[in-house]
Amino acid sequence: MKITIVAAISEDGFLTKGTNPNPGDWTSAEDKGFYKSLLEKHNLYLMGSKTFSFAKNTLPSHAQKIVMSHNVSEQPNIPGVYYSDKSFEDVIAKFSDNYSQSLVIGGASIYHQMLEQNLVDEAYITIEPVINHTGVLFYNSKNYFENFGFELESKKTLNAKGTVLKHFVLKK
Ligand SMILES: NC(=O)c1ccc[n+]([C@@H]2O[C@H](COP(=O)([O-])OP(=O)(O)OC[C@H]3O[C@@H](n4cnc5c(N)ncnc54)[C@H](OP(=O)(O)O)[C@@H]3O)[C@@H](O)[C@H]2O)c1
Repeated sequence: MKITIVAAISEDGFLTKGTNPNPGDWTSAEDKGFYKSLLEKHNLYLMGSKTFSFAKNTLPSHAQKIVMSHNVSEQPNIPGVYYSDKSFEDVIAKFSDNYSQSLVIGGASIYHQMLEQNLVDEAYITIEPVINHTGVLFYNSKNYFENFGFELESKKTLNAKGTVLKHFVLKK
């Protein structure tokens, strides 16, 4: 299965700003449009329980959701939502017969684990020209994706404010 990460970060590497869980409060209209188009193109999303708690009412209904949690038995039964405490490999294998690709929508803990386990094929990272100072940190190292064996496939400026979209692809 092809695994794609999507994230929007501040210039200093944060997925959120302070205690506000909503990245939409500081991301650009162009990033929102790009994210929406990726959500529409995919039929399977994978995320952590914190991201799901925040995003559940805004995610498109057509897609199956996999939500990682250590407390599967305590989770509500929601159609189209599959909670798992299994390994990422097992979860991906479970859905591989019916899905050829999956969009990983966060948060930081899920991105890190999947990258460390070499399960990611590509990443779309929007960098907004804002400094958030605090929040949920994704990364603050310069060559984060390169250090996992990715190369920058393309870099596009999305607007006059300087929002940049980077597309990283795992080197073959
Ligand atoms: N800017 C962006 O693009 C972007 C993208 C995504 C998310 N976000 C924001 O980031 C915040 C959440 O990020 P986060 O990193 O704190 O949390 P997260 O990754 O969304 O969720 C963490 C939770 O996932 C579960 N989990 C993680 N690894 C697991 C594993 N191996 N097995 C089973 N369960 C596992 C655990 O849930 P349990 O506690 O239930 O065990 C853990 O507490 C939210 O505010 C969200 O809005 C921003």
